[in-house]
Amino acid sequence: MEARSREGWGTKTGFILAAVGSAVGLGNMWRFPYAVSDKGGAAFVILYIVMVFAVGVPIMLSEFAVGRRTRLSPIDALRETGGPRWISLGMLYVLTGFLILAYYSVIAGWTMRYTLEALLSGFAADPGAYFESSTTGVGAVIYHVAFMAITISIVVGGVKAGIERVSLVLMPLLFLLVVGLAVYALTLSGGGAGYSFYLRPQLADVFSTSTLAAAASQAFFSLSLGMGAMLTYASYLKRQENLPGSAATISLADFGVAFVGGLVVFPVIFAFGLQGDIGESAIGALFISVPRAFVEMGAAGRVVGLMFFAALFVGALTSGISLLEVVTSSLIDHWKLDRARAALGAGIFIMLFCIPSAYYQGILDLLYSMSGEFLL
Ligand code: ALA
Repeated sequence: MEARSREGWGTKTGFILAAVGSAVGLGNMWRFPYAVSDKGGAAFVILYIVMVFAVGVPIMLSEFAVGRRTRLSPIDALRETGGPRWISLGMLYVLTGFLILAYYSVIAGWTMRYTLEALLSGFAADPGAYFESSTTGVGAVIYHVAFMAITISIVVGGVKAGIERVSLVLMPLLFLLVVGLAVYALTLSGGGAGYSFYLRPQLADVFSTSTLAAAASQAFFSLSLGMGAMLTYASYLKRQENLPGSAATISLADFGVAFVGGLVVFPVIFAFGLQGDIGESAIGALFISVPRAFVEMGAAGRVVGLMFFAALFVGALTSGISLLEVVTSSLIDHWKLDRARAALGAGIFIMLFCIPSAYYQGILDLLYSMSGEFLL
């Protein structure tokens, strides 16, 4: 097949870090701890490892193979691979990426707000009341718009000068923050119960089908599978890259951040007796129970909280970039727009489309269950 001219990654490390950036995000430090506490602790962790390596890695590899071979974004890549009937699957990929970004950017906006709160004023004394007042209404819309504006400006910059350059700086920063937090968590007295909830399985729960289904859904979400991101990123690869090695490295890094994230969240939550709070709601859990622990920590809590929410924000940004890139590259390939118009058009459309979900949490919940669970 004749090689198409197409933007490309500058280096292999750039591709790996951008793909790890797509994978590591809210899924690792927000959705994963909630799923662990909702589904029986360590039993979920075991099934999750099985799902990541037995199901996730092969699917990631197949997305990589289709992307690299066709050097096209999902809609055209699937048409070229399987014929016109496969276009609908490509459309489904783009729709899923679009709908996930539609609620993801709202929650990413919350992480931005919490990071600034830790930096400028410290956490509110009543994190439950703060969550209620800050995550809906005009304030939430403003942070969502700010998050989308940053995401759009990076995607407009292109694959190498925008996405790759940002990933090369932000991903090492995120690893440092998460490891630093885990080391701090080791020093907390009373954190031991958190480690044992997280790491000591009740064998009966390992055979639960609902835990297995939750582990599969978490693996798809966290590895950015079924949303077009991995296929699109691989379409910018050179032919000689080793795809199995890349898929294994990216999955291992993604699992590693989720696992270390658990080594932060569970000791922190258990040390302050907040384990009852975390399973209360899928979306709000981390934004209420974890800041409650930071408030209890006093002055140290402000620094630790800043590191925690900054890591969440960085992860959310690099994942948001990859989801916007799915839609942008489809507009470039399928509808022949130039990059600036495609990224701005797609980004502003998504930004406007999400305003109701930023304003009302009911719409956010609906988008979350439809795209983050059902479509995946
Ligand atoms: N893979 C991204 C995440 O885990 C969507 O947040």
